[in-house]
Amino acid sequence: MTEKIKIGLILGSNRPGRIGGTIAQWVKKELAQEALTIDILDLAEIRLPFLDEPEIPAKGRYQQEHTKRWSETVRRYDGFVLLFPQYNWGYPAVMKNALDYLYSEWQHKPVSIMVYGGHGGFQGLIAMKLVTQGLNMYNMSVNPPLNISKEMFDAADQFIDIEAAFERIAPQVRLVSEEFCQLLRPEDRG
Ligand SMILES: Cc1cc2nc3c(=O)[nH]c(=O)nc-3n(C[C@H](O)[C@H](O)[C@H](O)COP(=O)(O)O)c2cc1C
Repeated sequence: MTEKIKIGLILGSNRPGRIGGTIAQWVKKELAQEALTIDILDLAEIRLPFLDEPEIPAKGRYQQEHTKRWSETVRRYDGFVLLFPQYNWGYPAVMKNALDYLYSEWQHKPVSIMVYGGHGGFQGLIAMKLVTQGLNMYNMSVNPPLNISKEMFDAADQFIDIEAAFERIAPQVRLVSEEFCQLLRPEDRG
């Protein structure tokens, strides 16, 4: 049996009351297909402090236990989805911090960037593309914009119906799965 392709879906939102957890579950469901194993890596649970390594990550000489654990986690995956909200036209600090901790672990791995926000968070996408390029990741061609607007939410600021909210973008999310398979298991594609 061929081993499955391992995808890390990194959730870069850690506010109490966030909508990110619900969106991560929805993205995971839409990405699911036989060839892939998808794990949500929730930065609110991983709880990295602000980067506190004495040496630069490119040297790979980690001293902190939390960095070693994060490095081992990231090494396990063949590709990544970075899912995060747009904050003030950029990415959340927790997302950038998690990327900054490591270097070689990210290199050459395919990445799809999924930003949620008004207008799909396109400024956050552009900002993050520069970062992933700087880390020598492979920026994938499909980066579905997850548009949110106030009618989608109830009085507690949670989704009324996430399926309806993201119905139109779901096919693009599924295309990301296809792209992972094409990039990481081309021999299965004939
Ligand atoms: C600090 C902060 C900055 C924000 N900046 C933007 C923004 O630039 N553009 C946007 O469309 N929404 C912005 N929002 C609204 C978020 O898209 C919305 O609050 C969303 O729920 C945040 O995701 P989260 O709940 O997972 O944290 C911002 C929200 C916060 C908390």
